[in-house]
Amino acid sequence: MLTLGILGSGSGSNMQAIVDAVGAGKLDARIAVVLSDQADARILDRARGMGIAAGVIDCEGYQSRFPEERQKEVAERLREAGVDLVCLAGFMRMVKEPLLEAFPGLILNIHPSLLPAFPGMRAWEQALAAGVAETGVTVHVVDAGMDTGPILKQEVVPVYGDDTADTLHARLQVVEHELYPEAIREYAAVLDL
Ligand code: GRF
Repeated sequence: MLTLGILGSGSGSNMQAIVDAVGAGKLDARIAVVLSDQADARILDRARGMGIAAGVIDCEGYQSRFPEERQKEVAERLREAGVDLVCLAGFMRMVKEPLLEAFPGLILNIHPSLLPAFPGMRAWEQALAAGVAETGVTVHVVDAGMDTGPILKQEVVPVYGDDTADTLHARLQVVEHELYPEAIREYAAVLDL
């Protein structure tokens, strides 16, 4: 069975969606471990509440850096847990060589825009500021760039005239929660994981 490891920094709603998809029989997988760079992140509480092994990545007080030694440790923890595929779910640090080399082509990310448009932080606010009529959600393979890896799946989400950052983000998240489990299932099938 496909074994997933999840890295996240925030609320963990995408992790929850993956768990729910597994529970609903839409994704044949198990989540072996959830790791967060934020000790007080809700994703960790949610994982523990569901009996999923959860741990903190100590980023040594750095605001956005993900120190190389820590990336090596994370790779080891994921390997020890038997992880086949790593899913970033709201993980706010850039993954670099130590982790990318340990899981080549095997780290996915979900991003709330139609990449390559609006990479980086708070993509829904970028879309609103740009005045686009449509944005969306992208699942892609992670490379060393910022939201630049090969795109696996995208879905368009309309932007309405009365949208606020909150309403647009909420609409994007509904789509994220459907798209991520589907993309994981399809990618794992292609790779025969
Ligand atoms: C999502 O909007 C995702 O696209 C972005 O960060 C957010 C994470 O939300 N990368 P959650 O922690 O899964 O609720």
